[in-house]
Amino acid sequence: MAKITGISAEEIVDCRLEPTLRVTVETESGTGRADVPCGRSRGENEAVDLRDGGERYAGLGVRDAVSNVNDTIAPALVGQNALHQRTIDEELRSLDGTEDKSRLGGNALTGVSLGVLKAAAASRNVPLYQYIGGVNAHALPIPFFDLIEGGELAAGNLAFQEHQVVPVGVDSFAEAVRTSAEVYYELGRLLKEEYGESALNVGYEGGYTPTEMSDPRDAFEIELRAIEELGYEDEFVLAADVAASHFYDPTEETYSLMGERFSRGELIDFYDELTSTYPIASLEDPLHEEDFGGFRALTEELDVQIIGDDLFVSNPSRLREGIDDGAANALLLKVNQVGTVSEAIDAASIAHRNGYAVQVSERSGQTADTWLADLAFGLNAGQIKTGVTRSERTEQYNRLFAIERELDAAAYPKNLASVFA
Ligand code: PGA
Ligand code: ZN
Repeated sequence: MAKITGISAEEIVDCRLEPTLRVTVETESGTGRADVPCGRSRGENEAVDLRDGGERYAGLGVRDAVSNVNDTIAPALVGQNALHQRTIDEELRSLDGTEDKSRLGGNALTGVSLGVLKAAAASRNVPLYQYIGGVNAHALPIPFFDLIEGGELAAGNLAFQEHQVVPVGVDSFAEAVRTSAEVYYELGRLLKEEYGESALNVGYEGGYTPTEMSDPRDAFEIELRAIEELGYEDEFVLAADVAASHFYDPTEETYSLMGERFSRGELIDFYDELTSTYPIASLEDPLHEEDFGGFRALTEELDVQIIGDDLFVSNPSRLREGIDDGAANALLLKVNQVGTVSEAIDAASIAHRNGYAVQVSERSGQTADTWLADLAFGLNAGQIKTGVTRSERTEQYNRLFAIERELDAAAYPKNLASVFA
């Protein structure tokens, strides 16, 4: 028993200086404190964050969500057992009573659910990853480094949101980060040479933002050159989070890319060209978030990982729909998209049981809280996306270094599809 004795929320700021919640859950035997991340490039079907509106913080304040935790959720949960995560998450959903968690706020629910999880781990006196994954937690995640940013995450002209490098051919997480860091430095040198020093400005996730660049092929080309300069061709593949919903025009049913309009078929042909020209192993949200049929066509056509982010929004029922349709073959997992830990864990487990890969992901608005790293390891997700530079990102890497050092049995996956060494 880890009887909850108190739950309280406060308003803090994330890495964008925007308000978010920090929730503290106290039990008789341990305390948990969790920060809530926040997305910018959000899916239409995500749990809704409650924002105060008005002038304070340009409407982004979370005082109402804080009150919902302190005045509505806390009284209902005090006295309950923090070890009963699933019961508590069910209670949170029923207290909220809406499909999209808009009454109490997806941000309020996420904070409490994660706070309970961390309090339970503290009360058992085990690391968070071990509480999540028990004896089976062993797979370090392959990190996806968003070295060149575009879309909603940067002030440039690239429509694709993330142009990533992925260290798949190394033996450890520490080597994965070291080699990726070297590629990042070398890419910086090449970008400066070709696009000038301003290309080294970074976006929300700490990747470069060469504003002149508008063709994703230029981004992949220069990333590949950096990899080749270092002789790391066997260690790296490329990947992208296209975030296609954000340059899709639903009235015209076209995608605006490089000053042109692409039909779904033309965009699929473009992916064909991209994946045959570059060593691209993974595409996230290559089509807009309601196009399950297009995702299926693309998944059948290309021999790469196809990840659903805005498509699935970490929601078990949207994921099931996708699995039934054969749409995508991987899930992007963001706890605050769905609003409770147990729904997120359900999504991960449905994915794995159906042969879908799982990539645990940050949001572009983060804090230094490292529950994300523990979640990725605890779930044996096998993949993580947590940005490049800036402490709210690097703290996740530092946490994973520590896990790798402390656990002899921890292993780095041999490829994207398998978390088993
Ligand atoms: P977000 O974007 O965190 O701003 O929603 C990241 C992503 O699309 O994966
Ligand atoms: Zn995405």
